[in-house]
Amino acid sequence: MALQSSAIRIRNYPAFDSISLSEVLSALSFALDLTEGAVPGHGLRSCLLGMRIAAELELPSSHLPSLYYALLLKDVGCSSNAARMCQIVGGDDRAAKSAAKLEDWSKPHKPKLSTLRALWKIILPDATAAERVVRIAKIGVTQHQNNKQLITLRCDRGASILTKLEMGQLASEAVRSLDEHWDGSGYPFNATGESIPILARICAVAQHLDVFATERGPQAAIDVLQERSGAWFDPQLVRIATALHESNDLWRYCTTLDQPESLNDTRQAVLDLDPGSAHRLEASRIDQICEAFADVVDAKSPFTYRHSIAAADAAFAIAEGLGLSQERIQLVRRAALLHDIGKLRVPNSILDKQGKLTPEERRVVEEHPGLTRRILQRISAFQELAIVAGQHHERLDGTGYPDRLSAKDLSLESRIIAAADVYAALSENRPYRAGLSLKEISTIMESMVPGKLDPDCTVALIAAAAGWKTPEPESRYTPPLRLEPKPVRAETDMAIVQLRA
Ligand SMILES: [Fe+2]
Ligand SMILES: [Fe+2]
Repeated sequence: MALQSSAIRIRNYPAFDSISLSEVLSALSFALDLTEGAVPGHGLRSCLLGMRIAAELELPSSHLPSLYYALLLKDVGCSSNAARMCQIVGGDDRAAKSAAKLEDWSKPHKPKLSTLRALWKIILPDATAAERVVRIAKIGVTQHQNNKQLITLRCDRGASILTKLEMGQLASEAVRSLDEHWDGSGYPFNATGESIPILARICAVAQHLDVFATERGPQAAIDVLQERSGAWFDPQLVRIATALHESNDLWRYCTTLDQPESLNDTRQAVLDLDPGSAHRLEASRIDQICEAFADVVDAKSPFTYRHSIAAADAAFAIAEGLGLSQERIQLVRRAALLHDIGKLRVPNSILDKQGKLTPEERRVVEEHPGLTRRILQRISAFQELAIVAGQHHERLDGTGYPDRLSAKDLSLESRIIAAADVYAALSENRPYRAGLSLKEISTIMESMVPGKLDPDCTVALIAAAAGWKTPEPESRYTPPLRLEPKPVRAETDMAIVQLRA
């Protein structure tokens, strides 16, 4: 017989199979905004703007679903270059990405004063003025090479995620060519004019409209579009956007940023445009989306590049070992896949920091489970999943975060995710060591029982892990991005599982 939760079990939520693709992706687009340092709702507003421009173009109707999902998912590859961006600027990658969007980075030999000012705010915050000047000069010299690397990483990754999600070739190619410019000054292929897929050209115009409108207002966004018409942007699309702007048909639900509830209206407008709103997702499709977003989270840091997937495997094993029903196992696995989605807001300068975190950095890290919960709660059928995922850093003795909950508040499902998260953090490779052996992991986890971790969950996990095949340590030590200088061990494994897992 399946076990029941040891604490609160929340019931009467909509069943998983009542979700539409647009509901899930429009909610998860908030996570992509976080990684890019964008104003919340950027993905949604880009979707509205791009679809309005497309309506004037009279694209074949078969292109519309591809465009809609490409606009919502255009930033899905963005986490893959976060660590590299952090390395280049030696500071907050999110701030750097956000600032770069407002600058013309295609002319490094002619930097504007505004570009230098933006760099100065971000670069090497703890270094001397001389060191910062040297770093800015180095960035200027290597900018083309860095741009190509960053954009190629992001676009390839984004396109491959769309392919994995079976969004079709048109959507995937749109994301791959998002940063190409009409005059050939873009990346990754320096493609020109109409050789750039039309959906990519629309996505590029839409995202710039929103970036500039949210920072400087709609008229400034149109001015930038016109200034770069024929250079960055397709002149025909610029004409269409300008005409829509002049007839007041461009910005509906895209400008009232000062009212938080306006985001709900924006999202509803996006859902109303869904070309396949009647389509309900099958369970396997929901799993596929959760796995894709787990990949997005894991790609953010070379330290954690298999973390969410490993936590999901561990959570699945515990849930199965404890005899939970198929429905509960499914919930636990999906919650584990998405548990760290809120980490997309933590800059890599904190996530990848070698030393101890400052109190302010700890505060930023400690916000991530709450953010996970708030993002997932935007999906009607994910209410319980959101709570379980958002409790992965809570501990039975009340020493966890963000809400300092204790045993009486924590369901069996939440305890499973907590144990799985600790196991994943200990088993994964770190730049300074390969993943720990099961014996080492067991010693650490047993020291956390019963105060912090649930004894049944821990026993079930260690029993299951004993049957797993473990690759040789040398072959496991393969972080996808090597950091220079060579990282050193600066924090205990216990400290990592308590805070940054
Ligand atoms: Fe985690
Ligand atoms: Fe976490």
